[in-house]
Amino acid sequence: MASARALDINGERLWDSLMEMAKIGATAKGGSCRLALSDLDRDGRDLFCQWARDAGCTITIDSMGNIFARRPGRNPDRAPVATGSHLDTQPTGGKFDGVYGVLAGLEVVRSLNDAKRETEAPIEVVVWTNEEGARFAPSMIGSGVFVGAFDQATAYATQDLDGLTLGDELARIGYQGQEVCGQHPVAAFFEAHIEQGPILEAEDRVIGVVEGGQGMNWYDVIVTGAESHAGTTPMNRRQDAYLAAARLAVAIAGIAAANGPHAVATVGQVRVFPNSRNTVPGRVEFSVDLRHPNADVLAAMEQALFTALDEVCDPVGLAHAVKRLSAEAPIRFDRDCVDAIKRATEDLQLPHRAMVSGAGHDACFIAGVAPTGMIFVPCADGISHNEGESATPEDLTAGAKVLLAAMIERANA
Ligand code: HGY
Ligand code: MN
Ligand code: MN
Repeated sequence: MASARALDINGERLWDSLMEMAKIGATAKGGSCRLALSDLDRDGRDLFCQWARDAGCTITIDSMGNIFARRPGRNPDRAPVATGSHLDTQPTGGKFDGVYGVLAGLEVVRSLNDAKRETEAPIEVVVWTNEEGARFAPSMIGSGVFVGAFDQATAYATQDLDGLTLGDELARIGYQGQEVCGQHPVAAFFEAHIEQGPILEAEDRVIGVVEGGQGMNWYDVIVTGAESHAGTTPMNRRQDAYLAAARLAVAIAGIAAANGPHAVATVGQVRVFPNSRNTVPGRVEFSVDLRHPNADVLAAMEQALFTALDEVCDPVGLAHAVKRLSAEAPIRFDRDCVDAIKRATEDLQLPHRAMVSGAGHDACFIAGVAPTGMIFVPCADGISHNEGESATPEDLTAGAKVLLAAMIERANA
């Protein structure tokens, strides 16, 4: 492998591109809000495609709106070595979650251009659609359809809280491409991402050599009681759906505690009906996000969720329904990809450690169809999915240098 130190990344250009992209959907508190397939997501996609074309890439868009920006290699018959992530954000997202992986990939292309360096295999930078799942659930729909974890018709029919469908919004913003999703060749995939947790910063390390991702299940729960008058209905005659949902939220936190220290459980989205101050809620719909690195423990947590629904709702005569939206098993990344990242990191003499991702990433799906690896860099206080999310230009540059070296090694292998 050519010494990673012999290749240079323009860290200032990477930082400037991140700050330029952050202007699209900038929030008052310094974060980003570009919900999937919104006009702002379109604007971010348009900017990325312009930059990629300026860097000599050709653009292909598939039927799920996944974008593939290709830098040609000496051998056009070889499948591309790809990198990338997502441009959509959480409603109170930061400037780096996802975007860093896309723009670090673009910086790899720009740096190869600067060095007038050709690779054997083509290099591609990918933007995956709807990674966050904040607007359209579940998350990672674009990469999920790409690997066959979700079917496209179901994905198209997925609705946001306003009843707009993913398929209509994809067409409306002009990113419903011709290429059939899943037919695009990928020789290997590397994703650079902020850690979104506290470990690297706490241990003063610059690079996380990611060995895998934890399991992650998403559910929709509906608890049904009966609307009644807030003033005239005695407490023992109520069928209060919100009270039951609140008890369930406590029980769900208890499921994580009972499976600690690695289990996490979140009720992040709650809708109360009719949502009137003086009507006892008759129906509550809420999301459940369960995660654990071990598949058997995650299955036990799911059983505990189902039991909690019966134990909280049945005694008070409330109906309940639960639907599993997605179940991503824990995954291990490809050993050769992980080792290439480790070699580049050691060559650059960067303090590093092996780790497993607590967050879900498109790479976790792509690992099912191509050799895949991930590179983490620290973020301040481990904060993410928060407008205060931040990272340093030095760490972001270091991660991009590791990405460049690992991709060149793979593309010239
Ligand atoms: O939910 C996740 O882990 C990712 O940030 N979408
Ligand atoms: Mn992300
Ligand atoms: Mn995220």
